[in-house]
Amino acid sequence: MCGIVGYIGSKPAQPLILEGLKRLEYRGYDSAGIACMDNGKITVVKKAGRVANLEAELAKTGPLKGTIGMAHTRWATHGGVTDANAHPHRDDKAGIAVIHNGIIENYSVLKTYLQDKGHVFKSDTDTEVLAMLIGELYSPSEGVDLEAAVQAALREVTGAYAICVMCEGEPDTMVVARKGAPLIVGIGAGEYVVASDASAIVAHTTQAFPLDDYNVVKITRSGFRTSTTTNANVTPKVMQLEMDLEQIELGRFEHFMQKEIHEQPKAVRDCFRGRLHKEDGKVILGGLSNFAKELVRARRVVLVGQGTALHAAMIGEYMLEDLAKVPACAEYASEFRYRNPIIEDRTVAIAVSQSGETADTLAALHEARDRGALALGVVNVVGSTIARDTDAGVYLRVGPEIGVASTKAFTGQVAVLTLISLFMARRRVMSADQCARWIEQLESIPEKIERILEQDARIRKVTERYVERDNWLFLGRGYNYPTALEGALKLKEISYIHAEGMPAAEMKHGPIALINDGMPAVFIANRGRQYDKVLSNIAEVRARGGHVIAVATEGDDDIRRHVEDVLYVPEIIEPLSPMLTVIPLQLMAYHAAVIRGHDVDKPRNLAKSVTVE
Ligand code: F6R
Repeated sequence: MCGIVGYIGSKPAQPLILEGLKRLEYRGYDSAGIACMDNGKITVVKKAGRVANLEAELAKTGPLKGTIGMAHTRWATHGGVTDANAHPHRDDKAGIAVIHNGIIENYSVLKTYLQDKGHVFKSDTDTEVLAMLIGELYSPSEGVDLEAAVQAALREVTGAYAICVMCEGEPDTMVVARKGAPLIVGIGAGEYVVASDASAIVAHTTQAFPLDDYNVVKITRSGFRTSTTTNANVTPKVMQLEMDLEQIELGRFEHFMQKEIHEQPKAVRDCFRGRLHKEDGKVILGGLSNFAKELVRARRVVLVGQGTALHAAMIGEYMLEDLAKVPACAEYASEFRYRNPIIEDRTVAIAVSQSGETADTLAALHEARDRGALALGVVNVVGSTIARDTDAGVYLRVGPEIGVASTKAFTGQVAVLTLISLFMARRRVMSADQCARWIEQLESIPEKIERILEQDARIRKVTERYVERDNWLFLGRGYNYPTALEGALKLKEISYIHAEGMPAAEMKHGPIALINDGMPAVFIANRGRQYDKVLSNIAEVRARGGHVIAVATEGDDDIRRHVEDVLYVPEIIEPLSPMLTVIPLQLMAYHAAVIRGHDVDKPRNLAKSVTVE
């Protein structure tokens, strides 16, 4: 979603914050803007469209001067994609400029109040209301400086925000604040870089602190003060950002999505490192060790997530019941949070999220925790809101995921949920020997993913055969039903091809009507308990003219007789197969998007991290 970068120090602000803004492009946006302050005067330049449009505009106006500045990428919520609605927004009285991520829910009431006081608005946004409100409250002669005005304004608003504010009356100050949307302050030598995402900070410093909800930070070149919106002092928790530049640069790859697909063997190895103990037949998860007793005694596990994370959670549901023998269910966080769920005693809630910032997942976790559940997180981004709001958790450790389409985070989420299942299973129903055998299988996964990635060129060739078709089906059973959902989601989100994923047996209950001559149907048909049934479903599709691409187990030569194309994955026990079968589906989606000429890393309308409902 929207991105924020701010700078205060001794260097020219514009190049530094524009470079930061480019690192945030992956998050998805539709307009960009910048404000710099020089000699107590703020200049704003903003444009609908890409950061490149903004740069072109800056080439016309000339570079903005000043060693304090802020920049923003906007993902439209209130008001269309226009120059006027892009951030920063200014007030009409006190020389205030604001950039904002999130939504001010009571903006309409506040706008009427401000209009009654004579303020004239130039945009349709909720953010301009905030800028006007801060300007209205700012009154240095009455002791209300910028920090106090921001605190007072934020006491009046409901909704979510991460904001960065500058004021012409205080040319050496930047004020930032957060509630419900991420914001990090990076601490350099005599300079500070503020951003909604660590990737815009790490080129300058790795010392940083994330803001908690209702925190307001006043930053000058000589230091900062953290308080709450009610002006109580806060001591921030400064930490080391665990990210290096190489991880967020493309290297030899053309797209981040491609890079991240190919990083999966390493990502899974990093995820397993130090956690698998074959000799002792156990899995060690430091993050859960204090809660082992609660997990042994758990009566039910509820997993919540959205999109790809939900698909991983669905595999986790199967795994927890199969291995740990604990009733489990995976649900859309957005549904769970509003449906008055019943949380029995000894329920464990697991929020699955790459970013750790998804608004619905966070709210669902709060709902479960408030009703007495033990709240766990399966999260990638260290220090993110979900990671901080849980009782305990397990990080994915797959490295930063920049590609908007989630790939390595999915395998990481499935890997971690497998580890949690084994952690619980070993303490409930599984012997050390059995656990050691599972670990042996897990250890084989990175090398097996490598073997699939070696088939990249062939997977592209197969994709080429079907890429002109506008409707696809993805079908699987058991553990690979969620994989089918994930294959369909990947294809539609970056190639804009309509795709539906479903349990293979469900096809006969309606969707079979869609099948026409040559329609591509991707079946996950690896060897497993329901293999023969999948073959029957394949026959049903082909009898109606559909063309079948099967993801099958190496050595299954017979399947060639039943399908148009086969993509092979190495043999593995069925519960672990999604970590392999998903790889050809990710590559197919990637190649389909590239062949169709789409911008894989910036798909239309999408945002990397969905911080609004
Ligand atoms: C799809 C995708 C999304 C996310 C979803 C949840 O490729 O990336 O469906 O999986 O928005 O995001 P996180 O995992 O950050 O909570």
